[in-house]
Amino acid sequence: PSIDLNEIRDFLVELAKQAGELITSKTGQTTYDDKANSVDLVTETDAAVEKLVATKCNEKYPHFEFMGEESYVPGVTKLSDKPTFVVDPIDGTTNFIHSFPFSCTSLGFAINREPVVGVVYNPFLNLMYTGIQGQGSFLNGTHKLPLRQPPAGTKLTLQNALIGIEWGTQRSGVNYQVKTDTFKKLAAEDGKMVHGFRSLGSAAMNICAVAAGQLDAYWEGGCYAWDVCAGWVILAEAGGRIVGGNPGLWEPAVDQRIYLAVRGGDGCEQFVEDFWDCIEGRLE
Ligand code: IPD
Repeated sequence: PSIDLNEIRDFLVELAKQAGELITSKTGQTTYDDKANSVDLVTETDAAVEKLVATKCNEKYPHFEFMGEESYVPGVTKLSDKPTFVVDPIDGTTNFIHSFPFSCTSLGFAINREPVVGVVYNPFLNLMYTGIQGQGSFLNGTHKLPLRQPPAGTKLTLQNALIGIEWGTQRSGVNYQVKTDTFKKLAAEDGKMVHGFRSLGSAAMNICAVAAGQLDAYWEGGCYAWDVCAGWVILAEAGGRIVGGNPGLWEPAVDQRIYLAVRGGDGCEQFVEDFWDCIEGRLE
């Protein structure tokens, strides 16, 4: 039987609202644990939201697979070709801990490992981003993405770009070096001198900002499928795309870990090539 993507979007929107109520009711919660290191944080609410989402998904769609950040087992959990919910219960956990209002629940749905429905909800600012493959993407149901078009006749270049970046949780080694060297090169007056960088603290919020046309691009090494799956379809339906975050990869898979998200419009292909030229090394 064919899968009704509109029904899945409506289901995920309702679920995102329930998740949002749980998240906002726990605002100010200060207890957290660390995972890989002291900046890789998790709270009890991450687990509680994932439990809520996984339970509801399994109840309504028992024949679909589920992949979530908190129940992921490295080396064991794998994204398959089956219809799969790909979920980050709280994307922006560090923001949540600090009450910085850029956390969201990121609910993606993939078939054959391709994102086809995305719902990203920031309950603090009441931002509900949705997208269905082939049907466009929207903010709060009615505002079609992108919200902002660049002025007519302007091409996207490094010099006129506002770029989302993240430090991520790896603060040593090759990836830290490549990132910080690249940030320096892109920002410097004798380099490309981009308009600026922003770190929203949530991969999904960064990708949705690109989809909205508020950021021109977002670069990250170290994301997982649940960080990007929902945003991927929202961005693609807004005319943008996700490409590899190391030079030369235009068709990355949703379950690789290094990404460059870029908005659509004039100049965007050259922008990607120019961005890749500025990457000082290779992210691992
Ligand atoms: C993290 C955030 C962060 C990004 C990391 C993600 P989490 O997700 O999206 O902005 O830099 O790569 O892991 O841990 O808050 O769900």
